[in-house]
Amino acid sequence: MRKDRTFLLKMLEIQVTTNVHTGHETVSLRDPYPFFAHKRRQAGVFPGTVMDYSKTPESLMPKREYSAVSFDAVNTVFRDGRVFSSAPYDKTIGLFMGPTILAMEGKKHRDHRNLVSAAFKSKALARWEPAVVRPICNALIDEFVDTGEADLVRQFTFEFPTRVIAELLGLPAADLPMFRQRAVELISYHVNYERAFEASAALKDYFVEQIEQRKSKPTEDIIGDLVSAEIDGEKLSDEAIYSFLRLLLPAGLETTYRSSGNLLFLLLTHPEQFAAVRSDRQLIGQAIEEGLRYETPLTTVQRFTTEDTALEGVEIPARAVIGVCIGSANRDERRWERPEEFDIFRKHLPHISFAAGEHTCLGLHLARLETRVALECLLNRLTNLRLLTDDDPHIHGQPFRSPTALPVTFDAQ
Ligand code: HEM
Repeated sequence: MRKDRTFLLKMLEIQVTTNVHTGHETVSLRDPYPFFAHKRRQAGVFPGTVMDYSKTPESLMPKREYSAVSFDAVNTVFRDGRVFSSAPYDKTIGLFMGPTILAMEGKKHRDHRNLVSAAFKSKALARWEPAVVRPICNALIDEFVDTGEADLVRQFTFEFPTRVIAELLGLPAADLPMFRQRAVELISYHVNYERAFEASAALKDYFVEQIEQRKSKPTEDIIGDLVSAEIDGEKLSDEAIYSFLRLLLPAGLETTYRSSGNLLFLLLTHPEQFAAVRSDRQLIGQAIEEGLRYETPLTTVQRFTTEDTALEGVEIPARAVIGVCIGSANRDERRWERPEEFDIFRKHLPHISFAAGEHTCLGLHLARLETRVALECLLNRLTNLRLLTDDDPHIHGQPFRSPTALPVTFDAQ
């Protein structure tokens, strides 16, 4: 089982070993933030990219690209879905996920989002915390607590959101290894397109089976909720359901695994702040928000202009790709003092890691809940938690970022 997880994590990390060449400039995958700051100081928007296209097939690479790097530019793009559309996602990640709400607009998007968001109601969240999230975190800690050491990425941060999502969907426990394997193959589409397509087809077949079972025998899980969801007599089609379920893997699993790893890394490398959180659990909420601001798991998403427009004085033609650089926006010196410092005590100002406007993350409450519970369980069970730095663990990657490993030692409680 452990070897299996290590192999899968290696697959996820292959995508982040080189530097990104954007024209004449090089973005460090270890720390792209100096590049973002350099661009942001010149202008809030620039013609060019912040993305890594080294593994992207020529046919999928944008021909005209601009990047929004200031907080205001990023916020404007997210909030103006008419000019900055997400519809062409259908021709990029939609190839792997199918037609999802991420690429829908206007009334269709609202209706669809209302139907699927019924499965993420706050009543459900309150039930999931003690019934699903906490037992899963504790069960994972049980697996390594007696050894006094662990790699928290391999043994914890990757595994808990995978198990949480599988259980919330209502998948049989015996299917977890297959689900984990296929999920990783799907979200590693940057690395291996063919395998991602195979995983997408296999997950579709698997989810169709699960949907069919629930039509004859309703269940109280997310797939069951999606099968029975109805607005004005309208139900979701099977295609809409399995596409949404596939979207949950990059949207819900990968982001949470990476952001919880980022937060742990940041706390472990800022011992005074970690000690403060340990002695006052009320600080966990603000630590999570500062972690998301300082090291968002997803630095850049995309939009596509539907008409000629201007953003922060830069003329942008219709049908251009906009790299919406959340990572840069979150460190905009016009919004935050000392933006390049991780400081859980800073005056609270909302970050934009969950996007804004109509496509604001649907799982933000679940993501916060999962991260809080994971941290609480670790703090409750492990004392004297320290990062082993011999192998230089660090946060890495672009546009997805997280620690390469989190080797720790601790005393069990
Ligand atoms: C820290 C963790 C997370 C982060 C940083 C995050 C971030 C984001 C961002 C930036 C978007 C907008 C993408 C775009 O417009 O291009 C988004 C959308 C979305 N997220 Fe999350 N997410 C997280 C966790 C989750 C979880 C746990 C779920 C569900 C299980 C989820 C489900 C979704 C869905 C369904 C959308 C599409 C919403 C729409 O198009 O209306 N996310 N997320």
